Amino acid sequence: MREKEIKFTLNIFEDPAELTAEDGGLLKKAAEALQNSYSPYSGFKVAAAVLLENGEIVTGTNQENASFPVGICAEGTALSAVSAMYPNTVIKCIAITVKSESRLVDHPVAPCGVCRQRILEYENRFKSPIRLIMMGESGGVYSVNSVKDILPLHFSKYDL
Ligand code: THU
Repeated sequence: MREKEIKFTLNIFEDPAELTAEDGGLLKKAAEALQNSYSPYSGFKVAAAVLLENGEIVTGTNQENASFPVGICAEGTALSAVSAMYPNTVIKCIAITVKSESRLVDHPVAPCGVCRQRILEYENRFKSPIRLIMMGESGGVYSVNSVKDILPLHFSKYDL
């Protein structure tokens, strides 16, 4: 038996003002999109802003359903919109932010496992890493350079 340690780099910005203008602008677009969240069941709004190689930004928000499992995460909504409108355009970066109706979210929130897998598909499809930027309502910002950083030992088309 041998042990292999897998490390990843998490960039932590204590103050959003430390972000580049591009990253700060993308997070702002995500924050603006929060109003489009349809989340009457959880009261937890999530928005994703996807930056494409051509400079376009596509946003998506969580869309819940009375039949709970039918709901779609913000990342899924945004990526489906990208795929529908710009099917052949490389995705550079996704900014994700949240807002709760019941409490202040004082830390960045990372995408769920299903959404990590969704994002991985686009990284592999375009053979280009997708940076992720995450922010709560307060409490700084996290970024990672690839979804693979937060989905180690993943399953992908290369396993089929
Ligand atoms: N949600 C997202 O939109 N993205 C995630 O990565 C995690 C969870 C949504 C789903 C549901 O509408 C609400 O957050 C509470 O789970």
